[in-house]
Amino acid sequence: MNNVIVAASGKGGTGKSTVCVGLAVALVKQNKRVLLIDCDCGMRGLDIMLDVEEEILFDCSDAVSGNCKPADAVYRSRNMDGLYLMAAPFDTDNEISPSVFCQLVSELRDNYDYVIIDSPAGLGSGFSTAAAPADRAIIVTNAEPTGLRGALKIRRRLLELDKSDIQMIINRFDRQQFELLGCYRDLDEVIDAGCTRLAGLVPNDMRLSSIMQNGCAGLNWCPSSTVFDCIARRLEGERVPLAFKG
Ligand SMILES: Nc1ncnc2c1ncn2[C@@H]1O[C@H](COP(=O)(O)OP(=O)(O)OP(=O)(O)O)[C@@H](O)[C@H]1O
Ligand SMILES: [Mg+2]
Repeated sequence: MNNVIVAASGKGGTGKSTVCVGLAVALVKQNKRVLLIDCDCGMRGLDIMLDVEEEILFDCSDAVSGNCKPADAVYRSRNMDGLYLMAAPFDTDNEISPSVFCQLVSELRDNYDYVIIDSPAGLGSGFSTAAAPADRAIIVTNAEPTGLRGALKIRRRLLELDKSDIQMIINRFDRQQFELLGCYRDLDEVIDAGCTRLAGLVPNDMRLSSIMQNGCAGLNWCPSSTVFDCIARRLEGERVPLAFKG
């Protein structure tokens, strides 16, 4: 099975966490069991997005330190059967090493069809830990030179870590803003600048943003949900066209 995926970006705030949840929900709709692991230690947010914030007693650092069994740190989404979360620790003192994190993921992965790991922004040790168990990576970027520079840097780092199955999602795309910015002639030029195969294009969708801050209930009804459905099918190996072409 090739289904441990890390979301990465280089630059912060490009939408990694949003994409992780959007993809996870889309895969669950395709009858997959999906475990999301929040690896953004100190800055966790997926518990809010999945509306399990109040339930979290144990996080992944408890699971690796033996404070609890790995399964005890996995929480079910209230809004969706088949969707599970392992939260990140609140404090950054609990840094997890890549080998320990790999061990944790190897104990959990057989219970799920997909494990999606949300990484912290940047190229630091937190990112190396998040990427260590991944079979594939998805770089999340916007269509701006700063985002794409981050994408290129993280791509280089992924290759150094022997992660060669890499795809890219261009997030928050808005044709009007893109043309006003005038940095790239068209989307092909953006994809060339990222040097990475495109998995999908996600529109700038304020409804998506608001749903994510409110426990992701209702994700089926926002304009981006069909986009995530298509990206999920592409991850499954289906040859489907992009749902949104900008
Ligand atoms: N497609 C989108 N349309 C509109 N808003 C979006 C979209 N994707 C993400 N956002 C918004 O952008 C902000 C940053 O998103 P998110 O937290 O997912 O980014 P991140 O890459 O995980 O950030 P960090 O690097 O801090 O972890 C949030 O307010 C989120 O709701
Ligand atoms: Mg995030």
